Amino acid sequence: VSRPRVLSGIQPTAGSFHLGNYLGALRQWVALQDTHDAFYCVVDLHAITVEQDPKVLRQNTRVSAAQLLALGIDPDRSSLFVQSHVPEHAQLGWVMQCMTGFGEAGRMTQFKDKSARQEASVGVGLFTYPILQAADILLYQAHHVPVGEDQRQHLELTRDLAQRFNTRYGKTFRLPEPYIVKDTAKIYDLQDPTSKMSKSVPAGVVELLDDPKRSAKKIRSAVTDTGREIVYDPAAKAGVSNLLVIFSALTGRSVESLVADYDGKGYGDLKKDLGEVFTEFVTPVQARVAEYLDDTAELDKVLARGAERARSVASKTLARAYDRIGF
Ligand code: ADP
Ligand code: NA
Repeated sequence: VSRPRVLSGIQPTAGSFHLGNYLGALRQWVALQDTHDAFYCVVDLHAITVEQDPKVLRQNTRVSAAQLLALGIDPDRSSLFVQSHVPEHAQLGWVMQCMTGFGEAGRMTQFKDKSARQEASVGVGLFTYPILQAADILLYQAHHVPVGEDQRQHLELTRDLAQRFNTRYGKTFRLPEPYIVKDTAKIYDLQDPTSKMSKSVPAGVVELLDDPKRSAKKIRSAVTDTGREIVYDPAAKAGVSNLLVIFSALTGRSVESLVADYDGKGYGDLKKDLGEVFTEFVTPVQARVAEYLDDTAELDKVLARGAERARSVASKTLARAYDRIGF
């Protein structure tokens, strides 16, 4: 029986992934390997929508791949690859650009947000980013794409483009479905628990590759309210609730059981224990990352194998699309 196929990608620009990336996305990537034929890519083509230093980009791409492996992506079960190693992404990306209306691309709200935040002049790549993302997905005839709220609009565009191509040229692409994975946690900033944890806010982010001592300290100094009671109430007690969600996600224990356990104890106890839980989780992950980065020849081999597997699928899809177009 063939499994449904899933495609997902992550940008290499940050170097270290953070706890939000892990609990909101990458943990689900690992779990999806049990049910899906998974294609996971480090999307370096997307990274250059903003200027990158070549040395840093190359290093961060390896560091990203090493983290995915260390977190549990199994290259024997899943196709793990770097986007630029599979030239079909850029090739189908061009085709899809030609299928997209200018106004249609302009309605992508992430472009509006991101371009508004860019200081320097905004490149066209930032504008066409969701179209390349559509190509990323359609190349693999993916059944499912794990999506958070912010990505829904992009998946809609992907489906529209696939439908449009199929109508114009004959059935070529599968229309992917959004895949809502359970146990996806939205993680909030430790210093401002009303906004989502993000690499762009260094004070409140917990990075997987940071010194665990520093991370534990960040957790101990997380912003909480002036009360004492440990209860789960995201509206009134955002900080404490965020810590409970993280604790629960990292240990598999329910929030209710944690609340019961911490009855009569203070925020300090919860934070100290969570710091230890995080350290226990991240220490072996860091050790595996270091191993992969210690032998980049071997890491590159793993990625070359992944790219080969990805290309064997992507090249077939592209050939069919090119043929239909009249190339
Ligand atoms: P983007 O900013 O383009 O969404 P990121 O690199 O920040 O991409 O995130 C990569 C993945 O991690 C995405 O799937 C995103 O939804 C998820 N993610 C990022 N931050 C959080 C967070 N604070 N909580 C949960 N998931 C998150
Ligand atoms: Na983000």
